Amino acid sequence: MSEQRAIALPEDRFQIVEPAGAILGDRFAQDVAAGLLAPRKHLASKYLYDAIGSALFEAICLLPEYYLTAAETQILHEHGWAIVRALGEPADFFELGSGSAGKTGLLIDDAVRAHGSLCYSPVDISTGAMIAGCRALIERFPTLRVRAYAGDYFHVLQSPQLRFDGRVLAMFMGSNIGNYEPLQAEELLAALAARLRSGDGLLLGIDACKERATLEAAYDDPTGVTAAFDKNLLARINRELGGSFDLRNFDHVAEYDEERGCVASFLEARAACRVWIAAIEREVIFEAGERIHTESSYKYSLDQIEALARRAGFLPGERWLDADKRFSVNLFVRA
Ligand code: AVI
Repeated sequence: MSEQRAIALPEDRFQIVEPAGAILGDRFAQDVAAGLLAPRKHLASKYLYDAIGSALFEAICLLPEYYLTAAETQILHEHGWAIVRALGEPADFFELGSGSAGKTGLLIDDAVRAHGSLCYSPVDISTGAMIAGCRALIERFPTLRVRAYAGDYFHVLQSPQLRFDGRVLAMFMGSNIGNYEPLQAEELLAALAARLRSGDGLLLGIDACKERATLEAAYDDPTGVTAAFDKNLLARINRELGGSFDLRNFDHVAEYDEERGCVASFLEARAACRVWIAAIEREVIFEAGERIHTESSYKYSLDQIEALARRAGFLPGERWLDADKRFSVNLFVRA
């Protein structure tokens, strides 16, 4: 990979920037070694999103049990016009994450109608899904320009190649902030605040705490899509690192920890086994019932999300909820 590469795609309205060190490369192997050889086995949830994982996540978003997407979409449908005008002046969009950029399309539509044109800058580690989503947006909105950043959020936020020209509305939607441990979430928002200017906005879409049964069904659906999404991480280790995981020996488990306000996902070994991973030249030993922690999905009350944003350097603005108050979209302003 070349250093500090900026790839201009044929469309003059679409640029992809790949800051040095922002693409994971060998770190996958190193992180798998550290996580699977630790006393309490764990794998970082960012590794769930290879091409297959991203496609499975798109499918999760369509599941009735995974109410988060429908609730957030309802808010954007109903209040998008108010959201894009809430800062009082046109702002370029900077989005942490993008997926297929589907829901963001609703806000882009409102912003383009309100202000005529827009620059949209998504950041995503899953480059294939981001490019496909951005191409569709470019075709749909003739006055849209895209400057997309490929890589890990922290690396992109620290990169000198990250550039904003005017007022910015940063976005972290889909309850993505919930996948960070609370201290890390604060660090990430503080790193974002450090790159924004006073008066810039931050839009946070976040899932609220609710009863156990609803949450556990959202993260362990009866059709098994979420289980496939989680187990794909083991399949990815097999594909990319020469692993020998037998996926049939692992179950997906989702447990709501009420005290932490978090749904924790695990892959649990049915029977004792030994797994060879060629790329790290190590054998990983599992006892029956032993788990790998693969994801935390924290839920936030309105007060908790406000306190988090304040600690990171933002002041509260407006907030919007879906009809059933399951999910909130919160505007904060960089102090
Ligand atoms: C992307 N993220 C916010 C999802 C969540 O709700 O934690 C990922 C996910 N994992 C299982 N289902 C959805």
